[in-house]
Amino acid sequence: MADDLLRYRREFPILDRTTYLISNSLGAMPKGVYDAMHGYAEMWASRGVRAWEEGWWMLAAEVGDQIGAIMRAAPGSVSTHQNVTTCQAVVASCFDFSGKRNKVVYSDMNFPSVMYFWEAQRTRGARVHMVETSDGITVPLERLLAAIDEETLLVPISHVIFRSAYINDAKAIVERAHRVGALVVLDTFQSLGTVPVDVQELNVDFVCGGVLKWLCGGPGVAYLYVRPDLGSRLQPTFTGWMAHQSPFGFEVGAIRYTDPPYRFMNGTPHVPALEACRPGLKIITEVGVDKIREKSKWQTSRLIGLADHYGWRVNTPRDPEQRGGTVSIDMPDSQEVCRELLRRDVLVDWRPKAGVRMSPHFYNTDHELETAIEAVEEILKDRQLAAR
Ligand SMILES: Cc1ncc(COP(=O)(O)O)c(C=O)c1O
Repeated sequence: MADDLLRYRREFPILDRTTYLISNSLGAMPKGVYDAMHGYAEMWASRGVRAWEEGWWMLAAEVGDQIGAIMRAAPGSVSTHQNVTTCQAVVASCFDFSGKRNKVVYSDMNFPSVMYFWEAQRTRGARVHMVETSDGITVPLERLLAAIDEETLLVPISHVIFRSAYINDAKAIVERAHRVGALVVLDTFQSLGTVPVDVQELNVDFVCGGVLKWLCGGPGVAYLYVRPDLGSRLQPTFTGWMAHQSPFGFEVGAIRYTDPPYRFMNGTPHVPALEACRPGLKIITEVGVDKIREKSKWQTSRLIGLADHYGWRVNTPRDPEQRGGTVSIDMPDSQEVCRELLRRDVLVDWRPKAGVRMSPHFYNTDHELETAIEAVEEILKDRQLAAR
């Protein structure tokens, strides 16, 4: 089958040197980032402080719109931040946990940083209810829905689970939450860029994620979508001068909030990271997530088929409709196998309760999947021989 997405390979230098199957952790760098970084340095060197009004101040919102377009968010509804944990903090700061509606429902399959953040909010009055997985792969939907009740304020939940790539039923969760007056904070770090996300169709309240994985945008940029009708009324208490109606008025006293997206920002923006993420976002937008998803379903199925062939345990849903872009494979001594794969320039990672995570993206060839699996087989054979 001709794969017209492979023409993008030339945009990503590392693909010539490694078997790059780790876009669930850090997407490959587009070579356009060299120019973007050079442009940033030129701007700083030649325009100096004028750079703020000539581009840098607006960049935070422009990049937000670029990301927003990938999830069909209205222009002006996405703010940019440094990481997802900060996005959670901005959301939490909009609410009061001292009343009866103070329950926060999430799953133990959420990314730990998000979990640590919400657990810590107990000191502010949040009543945290964690729904446990029964199989280490999926999130029990019925139990999650049942936990969302009239006292629930927020449901921070991953769209795609980082360990297993299980896709949560975001629509059902949002519907249940809205029925009882709760709000959903959907973490799309492991979905946006490889699984379609449509914030309007989901009618979701908040969406956050980062650009360094499937969006090939590098570290330092996260996004926070706030549903426009909520965005114009919420007042984040984790705030700062970017959120002020007149930031350069340097007024003394309480903040007068401006409109979104700046309303949800706080201090000086992370300009170099914002510049660095644009080439990746441009490519993902050009390729289109629907095409990426189609290929991803095929390649992840192929990886599962190869793992089955060797009898290794697959910790990822077998139904492609329930599976994001990663396949977690647990073979004997998987952590050691992962270390050896890295030494051989097969770039993957290892996570406890998951195994070796392999994550093909639109730029990977089918041959690379075979290369990675054959390398695992070879490493296991070598280890068996050495143990004799
Ligand atoms: C689903 C998910 N959320 C959040 C994060 C990271 O959060 P932060 O941006 O705060 O480091 C990751 C990183 O792997 C992730 O997979």
